[in-house]
Amino acid sequence: MTMDVLITGGCGFIGSNFVRFILNAREDVRLVNIDNLTYAGNLANLDGMEGGFADRYHFIRGDICDPFCVKGLFERFQIRWVIHFAAESHVDRSILGPEAFIRTNVLGTFHLLETARNIWLQKDGSYPPDRRFLHISTDEVFGSLGDSGLFTEESPYDPSSPYSASKAAADHLARAYFRTYRLPVIMTHSSNNYGPYQFPEKLIPLMIQNARKGIELPVYGDGGNVRDWLYVEDHCRALLRVLEKGRPGETYNVGGMAEKRNSEVVELICEYLDRKLGIRGEGPRTKLIRFVLDRPGHDRRYALDTSKIRKELGWEPTMKFEQGIRTTIDWYLENTRWVEGILDGSYREYYAKQYGQRLGPQ
Ligand code: NAD
Ligand code: TYD
Repeated sequence: MTMDVLITGGCGFIGSNFVRFILNAREDVRLVNIDNLTYAGNLANLDGMEGGFADRYHFIRGDICDPFCVKGLFERFQIRWVIHFAAESHVDRSILGPEAFIRTNVLGTFHLLETARNIWLQKDGSYPPDRRFLHISTDEVFGSLGDSGLFTEESPYDPSSPYSASKAAADHLARAYFRTYRLPVIMTHSSNNYGPYQFPEKLIPLMIQNARKGIELPVYGDGGNVRDWLYVEDHCRALLRVLEKGRPGETYNVGGMAEKRNSEVVELICEYLDRKLGIRGEGPRTKLIRFVLDRPGHDRRYALDTSKIRKELGWEPTMKFEQGIRTTIDWYLENTRWVEGILDGSYREYYAKQYGQRLGPQ
């Protein structure tokens, strides 16, 4: 017996890793991936999938903000789980242009929740017990921490950027659908992911890419902001565990237990590339680091208390950051064609807008 699972945003970074992960982990799953292929969505992230998994993988190019498209999927397939990744996900882009974030992250989430509710609801007002709506959120909805402390699942919401504010709005809707309609929503807050297939606008792949090519490495502010890094495969494992064992209405923090200052991360990347590729004529790659104008509203530190998912679901991250970063760098070095293929004109335009004034004339 196969079961139909709807994944949104499956052509993005975490989504594509999850598609591969779940199809390998669960032979009974037939996956339907809806993605409208924004700049961050890339069919090449799932190359070979439709051939390799034959009738267990279906890609639908569609927009989660289109209620007719979403409803059509629920009518065509017997969706039991929704795994909702689709989002505009980059903080800097949300500062340059917040509207798309409100549209996809808030309105798109609303259409998915509303469609699931309408289609899954039974005559007696309940839902079949095997239904789950997994809403993927972020630690950024809690705002910024000082030097100490951790966010728990109960921490108050205090988002700083249009991105995190739009994710917070989506979280509130998702929680309201559980409380009001008893829709079996489960939520996760994960920390910063890294690993293969991450779009090179985010810190780690951007620095790998620039350092490889000998381009300046723009570190915001004093480089002392701290992120908790989670290897994407550990995240995928946590999500499947939450789907299988988590309780509807609950929220689970998924963190990597690997807090690092940004400048530390960039230095590690430089040092590993120096060792792997040799030191360039101009000197060690750390010489490319430029401390540039800070991001407005830049959260200082994120870190998650993951005791709930550890205790209740027996999950913990297995990848150590020092190993994960090497594996990630190796992947980017072996997949330069993938990177070059997505650095199209629109990315170059974004890069100039984001970094032009910060780095000065090139
Ligand atoms: P991503 O930007 O790499 O991918 C997003 C995907 O969603 C893309 O494939 C894009 O085409 C698709 N998409 C965007 N708008 C859409 C729409 N209207 N309809 C259909 N598809 C649409 O993002 P990611 O880094 O893979 O993040 C996935 C989810 O995880 C997001 O919800 C994000 O908020 C959350 N998250 C990410 C991180 C992280 O470190 N990357 C950390 C915590 C939470
Ligand atoms: P990012 O990968 O954009 O993730 P998020 O903002 O969602 O945490 O950035 C991670 C950290 O790296 C964040 O503190 C901002 C910083 N950063 C830089 O210093 N320079 C850059 O060019 C980028 C993209 C990020």
